Amino acid sequence: MGFSTIKGFRDILPEEVANWQRLESRARRLFHVYGFQEIRPPLLEYQELFSRSIGEETDIVSKQMYSFQDSKGRGLALRPEATASVVRAYIQHNLYKKYPVQKLFSTGAMFRHENPQKGRFRQFHQINAELFGDPGPKSDADIIHLVMDLFRSLGLTDLILNLNSLGCPECRPRFRAALTGYLADRGDLLCPDCKRRARTNPLRVFDCKKQTCQEVVAEAPSVLEFLCDHCINHFHGLQEYLGASDISFVLNHHLVRGLDYYTRTTFEVQTESLGAQNAVAGGGRYDGLIRQLGGPDHPGIGFAIGVERVIELLEKQGRPPLQTPDIFVAALGKEAEQLSFGLAQRLRKLGAWVETNYGSGSLKSQMKRADRLGAKKVLIIGEDELSSGKALWRDMATKEQGLVDLQDIENHAKRLFSCAAE
Ligand code: HAM
Repeated sequence: MGFSTIKGFRDILPEEVANWQRLESRARRLFHVYGFQEIRPPLLEYQELFSRSIGEETDIVSKQMYSFQDSKGRGLALRPEATASVVRAYIQHNLYKKYPVQKLFSTGAMFRHENPQKGRFRQFHQINAELFGDPGPKSDADIIHLVMDLFRSLGLTDLILNLNSLGCPECRPRFRAALTGYLADRGDLLCPDCKRRARTNPLRVFDCKKQTCQEVVAEAPSVLEFLCDHCINHFHGLQEYLGASDISFVLNHHLVRGLDYYTRTTFEVQTESLGAQNAVAGGGRYDGLIRQLGGPDHPGIGFAIGVERVIELLEKQGRPPLQTPDIFVAALGKEAEQLSFGLAQRLRKLGAWVETNYGSGSLKSQMKRADRLGAKKVLIIGEDELSSGKALWRDMATKEQGLVDLQDIENHAKRLFSCAAE
């Protein structure tokens, strides 16, 4: 029996990779100009890190974690998201002592045992950013600006920024009480999970995919009506910054996001082109999380981009042209093969993509291979070329050809093969 990938896990094939690299390199460039430094936390953490930060009642923790016990009986889990790990690292390594405001980004695979469907995988990738140490709306706006800049620079303009505020420990309890009362009156309409959530963590009822539960929360009280003055000022401040930089948004008071750690600002970038899995990025403020995990009382805000979903949008624009070899070195005979092997290495030092024939073959078969690979130029070395010290080059597109001195190949390469010297 042959092997194939696990359900919900997939290979990213070479022809798909160009768009991944395009997204990653744009993101890296933007992180640089916005002053974010890279951090690379591990994929495996103590399970409790996620249950304490994301929340026991969330779907992610209660249903979707890949968790198991190590030989000492400690619960471990593959990370379902990056925020908890980055906060852990911020505390563990006292990163806050170095700079008052820390801006960190990370990229990589996340794992959630969800029902796979279009745009939803069990292993997926995120580009993640966190900003620690600033409580004001300007850092919220900066973070959102970064995400929207990235999408804009990729030509993805058909996106809607949804914005909400979930309040703070001062005003959230009032909303929670109103929501609990509202849900209690409609308990018969809720699924068994949501009946429990309505008592233990009523905000999580908003995450339920069941139609009857969704109909119930559609009419639920709006969190925005319960915000305290501090939260209202923060939320207005953010909207002013966004308005001043021409970033349009819609207010969506149902946007509670699926994780418990959020306070105040939450946001999600949505698209209408991907069907049900319409969120391409999501994030928000989590002012209590760092302290909750044993760190100082520092605020935080961040976001994560769903790479697979953005790639799907980029695929609709087409793929960047595939790279092809600059030079194919065709050699005939043992002596020429040995010489061409060294020649290929010298040309690679100039930064050229150089292919050679690994086995021995006729000139015809080597030219065929060069053509298949899409090589731009072919360098032919046979007995005649060895004795004259010159190789024959051919441009595969124009069919133009000529001789090049083998001793002086590097200098010729820069001109003939458009190699950029390192
Ligand atoms: P999240 O909304 O759970 O937030 O995930 C962020 C993005 O990851 C989603 O908008 C979506 O594009 C993508 N995503 C999530 N699950 C899947 C899946 N199963 N398959 C494919 N893509 C998926 C977080 O993870 C937070 N940690 C974001 C954050 C950072 N908040 C503050 N800082």
